[in-house]
Amino acid sequence: MALLDLAPRSFEEYVASGGGRGLEIALGAGQEAVIEEVAKSGLRGRGGAGFPTAEKWRAIRSTGTGTRFAVCNGAEGEPATFKDRLLLRTNPYQVLEGLAIAAYAVGAERAYIGVKETFDQEIKALSRALEEMRQADALGGIPIQAVLGPDLYLFGEETGLEEVIEGRLPMPRMARPFMQGLFASPPNENPTLVNNVETLANVAHVLADGPDWLRSRGTDTSPGTMVFTVCGDVRREGVFELALGTPLRYLVEELAGGPPEGRSIKAIFPGASNTVLTLGELDVPMDFDSLRQFGSGLGAGGFALFDDSACMVKAAYLYSRFLYVESCGQCPACKFGTGEVTKSLAKIESGGESDLDLESILIHAKGSTDGQKCALPTGESLLMQSVVQVFADEFRTHIGGSCPLPRDLTFHKIVDWDQSAGRFVYDLTYASKQADWTYAT
Ligand SMILES: Cc1cc2nc3c(=O)[nH]c(=O)nc-3n(C[C@H](O)[C@H](O)[C@H](O)COP(=O)(O)O)c2cc1C
Repeated sequence: MALLDLAPRSFEEYVASGGGRGLEIALGAGQEAVIEEVAKSGLRGRGGAGFPTAEKWRAIRSTGTGTRFAVCNGAEGEPATFKDRLLLRTNPYQVLEGLAIAAYAVGAERAYIGVKETFDQEIKALSRALEEMRQADALGGIPIQAVLGPDLYLFGEETGLEEVIEGRLPMPRMARPFMQGLFASPPNENPTLVNNVETLANVAHVLADGPDWLRSRGTDTSPGTMVFTVCGDVRREGVFELALGTPLRYLVEELAGGPPEGRSIKAIFPGASNTVLTLGELDVPMDFDSLRQFGSGLGAGGFALFDDSACMVKAAYLYSRFLYVESCGQCPACKFGTGEVTKSLAKIESGGESDLDLESILIHAKGSTDGQKCALPTGESLLMQSVVQVFADEFRTHIGGSCPLPRDLTFHKIVDWDQSAGRFVYDLTYASKQADWTYAT
């Protein structure tokens, strides 16, 4: 069984299909044994970094002072990504069961799940599942609370998420949650676990069916499946659950049907957090280590495609602008660097720049990470430097003239999935969001 195989309409249906066994087994096995099962499975976090899940759990259980907490990160905001939302819509029970297991394993006193207040369908599915599971006493005795927060990218950053749970805006903290967690105040460090929705959905199955359930698919170092998103210039956009290690080509050509008739693929942006991929890299296996070897990263498994009719200056502008707008401004190099890159790209795109040196974009993109509290500017640095370098000729041709590829491009901030059209719905208001997080009227 895979994560998206079941879409139970009620907790009763979830239990009838074998749901709930993972938590039962976990509670009977004891905390150490649960962590050991997860370690044997080789599960790695699906939130972007691919960090070994059991290692994180062990650190939280065994270090620090004060009260422990567990948090499910359901604030999905990576461009070109819609997997957590689909998982929450399809089967919120397995996510909550995974969270209950994680909370038990690390010795948490309370657990939270953070989702954006704009996620109407997910909130509905989650609230109903929480209520049903509470009534059936199926959460392992540790209270779980859903927290709704703003439509800001940094809400998904783990320390930004902690801030939202504490009632503030998602301004990232310096200390990671395992060092200084929720509601911490000296001498209490309150080590806090933060795991992604998909990571926790896997946990429920690992406990129910054993580590081999995960290891029966995927690679040695990236076991299991991943729920991939593919969008942009393809015939069929969508979300597909595939074994880790599946070549990117299969997702792009077989499942998404490749680029529109008569067009060819030019660039693939793996969300806004990693380097650009091109046609020559289509055979890369989609797992954490292979993409890293290519100098890129799997991120949250979302891929945005641009075909040969798309202007790379415009594409880079849209993604840099996103990171600039979403940057919180606590780290000057991040807000300044993303802003400078965005400004230069806008000037090139409008033909208003005749002697811009591409080197200055590279320097500002690279410098945006100086003194960073969180990894948002790492995305700017990796993606912008790679796009400018790979498409340097196109950029040079563009400088000082009008856009040679004037087609409109949509920024891949997904707000919904239109099943009947087989297309994602994008946030068309995003162009009016400003760098102080307000919207221009
Ligand atoms: C700017 C930024 C945005 C992020 N957004 C998300 C997100 O929407 N969902 C998510 O699970 N992780 C996101 N992350 C990663 C989290 O900080 C964290 O690493 C993750 O939730 C850990 O879960 P995992 O170990 O299960 O992968 C983001 C990180 C950064 C720097």
